Amino acid sequence: MNLLRSYRIKLLLWMIVLFFTETLRAEDGYQLWLRYNEISQPELLSHYREHITQIVIQESSPTFQAVQEELRKGLSGLLGEEIPVASSVSQDGAVVVGTLEQSSIVRKLAGASELESVGADGFIIRSLRWDNRTVTVIAANQPKGALYGAFHFLRLIQTQQSLDKLSIQQKPRIQKRLLNHWDNLNGSVERGYAGRSIWKWNELPERIDARYKDYARANASIGINGAVLNNVNSQAAILTKEYIEKAAVIANVLRPYGIQIYFSIKFTSPMEIGGLPTADPLNPSVRQWWKEKAKEIYQQIPDFGGYLVKAYSEGQPGPQNYGRSHADGANMLAEALEPYGGTVSWRSFVYDISIDPDRAKCAYLEFVPLDGDFASNVFIQNKNGPIDFQPREPFNPLFGAMPKTALMIEFQITQEYTGQAKHLVYLAPLWKEVLDSDTYAYGPGTLVADIVDGTADKHAISGIAGVSGIGSDRNWSGHHFSQANWYAFGRLAWDTSLSSEQIAEEWTRMTWSNDPKVVNLIKKMMMGSWEACVDYMTPMGLHHIMAAGHHYGPQPDYVNRRRIDWGSTYYHRADANGIGFDRSETGSNAVSQYHQPLCRIWNSPKTCPEKYLLWFHHLPWDYPLESGSTLWERLKFHYQKGVDYVILMQKEWDSLQGKIDPERFEHVQNRLNMQKENALLWRDVCLKYFGRFAEKEEKREP
Ligand code: GCU
Repeated sequence: MNLLRSYRIKLLLWMIVLFFTETLRAEDGYQLWLRYNEISQPELLSHYREHITQIVIQESSPTFQAVQEELRKGLSGLLGEEIPVASSVSQDGAVVVGTLEQSSIVRKLAGASELESVGADGFIIRSLRWDNRTVTVIAANQPKGALYGAFHFLRLIQTQQSLDKLSIQQKPRIQKRLLNHWDNLNGSVERGYAGRSIWKWNELPERIDARYKDYARANASIGINGAVLNNVNSQAAILTKEYIEKAAVIANVLRPYGIQIYFSIKFTSPMEIGGLPTADPLNPSVRQWWKEKAKEIYQQIPDFGGYLVKAYSEGQPGPQNYGRSHADGANMLAEALEPYGGTVSWRSFVYDISIDPDRAKCAYLEFVPLDGDFASNVFIQNKNGPIDFQPREPFNPLFGAMPKTALMIEFQITQEYTGQAKHLVYLAPLWKEVLDSDTYAYGPGTLVADIVDGTADKHAISGIAGVSGIGSDRNWSGHHFSQANWYAFGRLAWDTSLSSEQIAEEWTRMTWSNDPKVVNLIKKMMMGSWEACVDYMTPMGLHHIMAAGHHYGPQPDYVNRRRIDWGSTYYHRADANGIGFDRSETGSNAVSQYHQPLCRIWNSPKTCPEKYLLWFHHLPWDYPLESGSTLWERLKFHYQKGVDYVILMQKEWDSLQGKIDPERFEHVQNRLNMQKENALLWRDVCLKYFGRFAEKEEKREP
């Protein structure tokens, strides 16, 4: 009897433990922003229950299966009751999803001319009355448009919008919205801070990890439609039969979600895996090899997207090894992909300082003379700034300088230089600052975004890339708040005119809570977090003073004798006379790579905005600023301001205890603590080092 009782108690305890483990697991961040928890406010719930009583779908393609599965899962979860799927409207509250071609109901409810304007990826969502019933229709031209529409509809409910009188019409401004994975074939991730690669190459093609589908869902929910699977520092093996077969399996999982796959390729592949004696892009056997390779890939992956290439940069081989140009290399690959509709993204991340001693100038000097030489299916893929994903840089001057070339922009979602997965840094404001920068390429009003989306120069192709921060960590991104950067990248890729604040609000509501206190506080924390990071790391235009190699903490005294441009002192140039990189007319003249009036404004320290001051100027420590402070005082002010903001975020986060599930709450709390320690270190190390030159060593309060 006793034995039985103790057995029962054990069983009960075990079940309780299991129950709580499961409950916590539901909030471990795995679901990202696709949490479909039941709405708790009764009024809202009845509003949604009234508007959503059945899902009506008449199509059965793999994409429509995905639409059906997602809507069913999402709506049933949010509404707390099973929403049935039907093929005809039989009651009030039908949600009809379909394409013009396949759905007779959509043909009746949405006109062809109305849909024409939204293109292949766009959609329309309308509240209507039909056959005496209230109906919401999600209509598109293509199944993938319907999928984006379905996710948009779910987002409306997740963010608690009214479903009365919906009249929404959307289409993306940019065609290719890509993640660039810097994942190696051995499972490690370059600059990855969320565990190992999600691509389990050693298990493929036999085993298909369940994550692939959830990855596809998350991306489709924000409109991402392409993934470069492997690192730009590439290995030739990705193009072997073995890896093409493995990748084809991933492509099959992603395809229903509208996601194409791409490869980063190594320029010397024809030699390494093809047995050729050269990789010279003008050699006929090399050209033939690439053509056959393209044919082989497309046989297995008919919708393969194309290649991403890092050539002649940081040790990667390129056409220059054979005395050829970037255009020779890119066009050879483009020719091979062209019959299948593939594209080449050729990166402009090159900085051979024998071309110019100022690294910031190099890419422009190499690429601008080639404008007009690239095939029509080639993108030149530019990082957002002229150096390398620094906390803040002015926009890359290649935007606005190559009108005859389609230019893709590359942002870094993974936070290599912005605290990695340890700091809460919301990057949408950085990306917005760049996208909204006026290049003045055709007088005022030619934004970087207008060049990227192809409208400024009337290009037929357009693209945007984000270096992924995704890994196999349970929460995908390392820091729960790093998920926001993945989300924001997708949303901005879809619509560059969205505000950072709107995106932060959406994400917060979907990821954390719709409680107004939580929403407002988290949004506030996020909105100031990037500027704070700039402040405690590299204020006033400072850049690249991170520790060697891992780029995490501060190392302003780092000198690299082999490559001076890999050392911190090359960038900040602090000495007894002052600090900053003189890129004005009297310095490196990098400023001349920008159109007027930017060139003029940035050329003078009097008119140069404070945020770019030390990017463009070397100034004395006691240089008087408009604010009334000296340069040195102002630097100290910024470092302190950054630290203060992190301390404020800690307090704000603490005030949310009880309103956030404990596991995620503690995770963020711990990371904020780390961030504070790091911010203090940045401030102290930098001010101590610069203080030696400024001759103003001072005692600071911790
Ligand atoms: C940075 C980064 C490298 C990466 C490179 C690139 O320099 O530190 O890891 O390979 O960018 O974008 O190619």
